[in-house]
Amino acid sequence: MAVVTWFLVVALLFVSASADDNPADELVSILNSNRTAHKSTALFDNPGLGCIALQYIKAYQGRCDDVGGSDAKKPADAEFAETFAPNCGVQASTLGPITGRLLGCQSKYVGASEAFSGLLIHNSKSLEILYSSNHTEVGAAVSGTDGGAPYFWCVLFSNGKRNSSFVLDGGVAKTQRPGCFSGTNDDCSSAYMSQGPLWSTVVGILIAVAYALGF
Ligand SMILES: *[C@@H]1O[C@H](CO)[C@@H](O)[C@H](O)[C@H]1NC(C)=O
Ligand SMILES: *[C@@H]1O[C@H](CO)[C@@H](O)[C@H](O)[C@H]1NC(C)=O
Ligand SMILES: *[C@@H]1O[C@H](CO)[C@@H](O)[C@H](O)[C@H]1NC(C)=O
Repeated sequence: MAVVTWFLVVALLFVSASADDNPADELVSILNSNRTAHKSTALFDNPGLGCIALQYIKAYQGRCDDVGGSDAKKPADAEFAETFAPNCGVQASTLGPITGRLLGCQSKYVGASEAFSGLLIHNSKSLEILYSSNHTEVGAAVSGTDGGAPYFWCVLFSNGKRNSSFVLDGGVAKTQRPGCFSGTNDDCSSAYMSQGPLWSTVVGILIAVAYALGF
């Protein structure tokens, strides 16, 4: 019995370690299975949009308080063309409309599944955005400030066409460290996302917002 338990624990550790190669890709796959279980279509995981989601996070410069509450801020729509697209190598003329955004920030690092259900999807507004039939594609990103807390998660939705929106120069996004974004099959593991016990002692902040449309 003890041997079986030990084996299960080791197996679980192994599974959770290998599933964490790219938490942003993992978030998109959780989001898509949740949509299809709800009879909504699966969305195309667009790497150009994923890279822009990481830029969106970086615009907050680690200020979790700016995400929500009475003093909430959000990057100006002009930033997409002026800053985010060029930083990613996305051709500005191919930027598609953003049909929804989910953004959350917390001081403790959690895996993609907990970030999805415990942070990003937190009220009826975020559920409405999650299941909206307005979207055709998605990009997700996660970043800690300089690789540490607080951790930001961002999901951007678009109704662009999969092969003509958020097109990357030469087909590859410019490297963005620290942080991870979806759509690249990029191995973005703990080297860039410190998940050590250090941060699990820093708890308290947890802020999330959801916007429909915009830009
Ligand atoms: C989809 O996610 C929401 C929010 O976490 C949850 O309430 C719902 O049960 C999920 N649906 C499925 C089919 O997993
Ligand atoms: C875009 O995708 C459609 C269908 O998936 C395909 O017919 C078309 O040739 C593609 N266009 C380009 C420029 O790749
Ligand atoms: C979908 O798009 C329509 C028309 O642009 C808009 O009125 C509606 O609020 C959108 N739905 C969501 C959930 O964003």
